[in-house]
Amino acid sequence: MKITKTQHSRITAFDEDSIPFGHLFSDHMLVCDYASEAWQRPEIKPYGSWYMAPSSSVFHYGQAVFEGLKAYRDARDSIFLFRPDENAKRLNRSAERLQMPVLPTEIFMEGLKTLVKLDSDWVPRRFGHSLYIRPFLIATQEELRAKPSKTYRFCVVCSPVGAYYEKPLKVVIEQKYSRAASGGTGYAKAAGNYAGALYPTALAIKEGYDQVVWTDAASHGYVEEAGTMNVFFRLGDTLVTPPASDRILDGVTRKSIIALAEREGIQLEQRLISSDEIAAAHREGRLREVFGCGTAAVVSPISALHGKGLDIRLPDLGRQSYGKCMKEKILDIQYNRAADPFGWRLRVV
Ligand SMILES: Cc1ncc(COP(=O)(O)O)c(C=O)c1O
Repeated sequence: MKITKTQHSRITAFDEDSIPFGHLFSDHMLVCDYASEAWQRPEIKPYGSWYMAPSSSVFHYGQAVFEGLKAYRDARDSIFLFRPDENAKRLNRSAERLQMPVLPTEIFMEGLKTLVKLDSDWVPRRFGHSLYIRPFLIATQEELRAKPSKTYRFCVVCSPVGAYYEKPLKVVIEQKYSRAASGGTGYAKAAGNYAGALYPTALAIKEGYDQVVWTDAASHGYVEEAGTMNVFFRLGDTLVTPPASDRILDGVTRKSIIALAEREGIQLEQRLISSDEIAAAHREGRLREVFGCGTAAVVSPISALHGKGLDIRLPDLGRQSYGKCMKEKILDIQYNRAADPFGWRLRVV
């Protein structure tokens, strides 16, 4: 791997007391191009812009996929990644769905480790803060034809971040728009999925909600995801989460919560759940808790759920909350505050 270090570090601009999510980028980035049907030598170089022709196919046909994961610093200044192999695999599932070349796992893993090591001063010190890592893959061929590009760029940039959501979320169950349909690209982290979600989300925000709960495109009766998070419902003492499918992103946090719940002896069901069932459980006093989960927010409590005749407010369960318990357990593993029985941590520094 070629490494060119910056001569002008911007680290003094990094103030851990004020780090809005995704605004500031670390000193370096990883770049690896695909051309002549082969991945070229990866390179780490100073973070910065590059030239792209206006005819580059990503701007027209949207071959763009991405990932999101974080680096965490422990009390002794060691730095860890959390299940990065899962992100490497998912990037390639996304790439395959968008007819893009598969990236060798070694380029992903070695690239991330070397980049985070080089920019380790950018990994925040405070518990709960972290260095957000954004790998992405885009089509770069200069041609206006709706066909797969022959050239691509894989790039990784990093951004120090604090909390994603400051307070519990008010969400609305979507009854008109969809983020994904069967046979579509919902399971892929395709940039276009996020573009398509912006308009319905903006409408929901205008109505006073924080996020949309996506429902199945065919009937809008079954819940699927909460914004850019997977979603869990606690009915009595059982956690229910919709099964991963071709419409739902197979989240690393979701997978981790499922494994932790099993270990803790918490009943967990991966099955379809309808808004009618949620309404009935609420009427019967069995709907105790709803939360979203994802890398950015870890676990985000949902305090109000509206739409389709629902007007549900959920009190904070405090120490009784499964969401809080799962959040604590995941953070403890991520920040090396607890044993790592599943082997999820990868030490970088
Ligand atoms: C649509 C969607 N669902 C769920 C998730 C949560 O996935 P993960 O836990 O891997 O971050 C994300 C975030 O990546 C997402 O964009």
